Amino acid sequence: MLDTPSNRPELPPEIARRRTFAIISHPDAGKTTLTEKFLLYGGAIQMAGQVRAKGEARRTRSDFMQMEKDRGISVSASAMSFDFKSFRFNLVDTPGHSDFSEDTYRTLTAVDAAVMVIDGAKGVESQTQKLFEVCRLRDLPILTFCNKMDRESRDTFDIIDEIQENLAIDVTPASWPIGVGRDFLGCYDMLHDRLELMDRADRNKVAESVSINGLDDPKLDELIPANLLEKLREEVEMARELLPTFDRQALLEGTMTPIWFGSAINSFGVKELMDGIGSYGPEPQPQQADPRQIAPEETKVAGFVFKVQANMDPKHRDRVAFVRMASGHFKRGMKLTHVRTKKPMAISNPVLFLASDRELAEEAWAGDIIGIPNHGQLRIGDTLTEGEVLRAKGIPSFAPELLQGVRAGDPMKAKHLEKALMQFAEEGAAKVFKPSIGSGFIVGVVGALQFEVLGSRIELEYGLPVRFEASQFTSARWVHGDRLAVEKFVNANKQHISYDHDGDVVYLTRLQWDIDRVERDYPDITLSATKEMM
Ligand code: G4P
Repeated sequence: MLDTPSNRPELPPEIARRRTFAIISHPDAGKTTLTEKFLLYGGAIQMAGQVRAKGEARRTRSDFMQMEKDRGISVSASAMSFDFKSFRFNLVDTPGHSDFSEDTYRTLTAVDAAVMVIDGAKGVESQTQKLFEVCRLRDLPILTFCNKMDRESRDTFDIIDEIQENLAIDVTPASWPIGVGRDFLGCYDMLHDRLELMDRADRNKVAESVSINGLDDPKLDELIPANLLEKLREEVEMARELLPTFDRQALLEGTMTPIWFGSAINSFGVKELMDGIGSYGPEPQPQQADPRQIAPEETKVAGFVFKVQANMDPKHRDRVAFVRMASGHFKRGMKLTHVRTKKPMAISNPVLFLASDRELAEEAWAGDIIGIPNHGQLRIGDTLTEGEVLRAKGIPSFAPELLQGVRAGDPMKAKHLEKALMQFAEEGAAKVFKPSIGSGFIVGVVGALQFEVLGSRIELEYGLPVRFEASQFTSARWVHGDRLAVEKFVNANKQHISYDHDGDVVYLTRLQWDIDRVERDYPDITLSATKEMM
């Protein structure tokens, strides 16, 4: 049951019950553990430990790559769907390592909200801050989970102050911790006047919930030691005076975050957070597109590709395009228009990523994420509709910040390398530039770890060892202008010109001075650091 009425009463109930979100956090804050508990409560897995088990079970889920197994980091993002109470949750996984990739940004274009997990002892860490800034660009609603309260943690007011100050967002306590570390007993649920008491004996047990009648209820004396109870009363009174009260509208506008305290590993506070996502989190939101926005309640189906993953199963050279459904009620077998090529596409084998497995998606509603296996037709930023020409907006392609030359270990395999690189470029895993003079390719990435990921994937998936080498260039800019102006520019600057996988002209350079010079000498040309994916 919704605690608060839907703010979009026009939505069909199947859409209104959907919550599509990502978890943002700094590595080690507990994202994997929390995900696992979500799935446990969502009935998607039977036993805790399946997600983070370091054996086979874990590998079959989101760790498709050797590198991930080796390093224990989740380099690729995936989507998981599960039901919780009356809600359907779609959790889109964001890469959690400290290196940044465009995947992360794009993932956040496919969700309506984010859960920010912080470690109670460490507060807001660098990666959380970066990801938060990306969410803010889109005013994404954010729900916060302060984890590891079973360990020595910082003072509750300190944590809240730090979030308010560092992230410039109002914080309202949805729960208040009772004791910390060894003394952590549970939380007082500030929104429902309840006590949630943690069971330390059984990590997978849902906390005991005790309804009370305010903090003066005599029942409390039996449940909480006197010193902790006194502290709780004082703190909650202060919190009520000093901190803003919960306002769903402010949450939906991205100006306020409710915070829950808990311990993911002890399954504590997780159910309350899930209740919060369901009751207060946003329903599927309208998606920005050209020439008009797409509303989820529209009866015609539309969706956009925010991620492409190649070779998910090395035995079958398939690619899966992850599509965020923007509107309507999709049914398997539907024929949709692939707007970029204007060609019809029969979607006969869409998959839904239930936590334990891929499954054929017989249907999907606005808000859902489905995977469409394909042979390369679907690219990031592509839109699928029932015929209308609509283009998803706001899926960025970033100018790479690091460039390196790449060569096949075996020079006879150059053609194979080209094929592999083109595939990764289409997948959005890297930018690939073919210089107009000379041989070889230049690969551009946003974070250094991406080179390693790319190298190991080319070797693993194509059996091609590769070598990266320093490039004379450090920056790439897409060249825009009318055809003649671009031609003239290309002819005069051949040694700087290359082409990306779409054949678009890219200016490569080492010096900001060059970029300034082009802007000065070629008023008909614009150089841009990003290119919207189309
Ligand atoms: P991440 O995905 O955000 O990187 O974090 P992950 O869930 O992997 O958790 C990081 C570490 O923190 C893990 O310990 C995990 O067991 C621990 N952890 C998660 N939630 C809690 C909590 O509520 N309380 C406490 N005390 N610890 C928690 P590890 O030693 O790195 O891994 P493992 O040996 O336990 O597998």
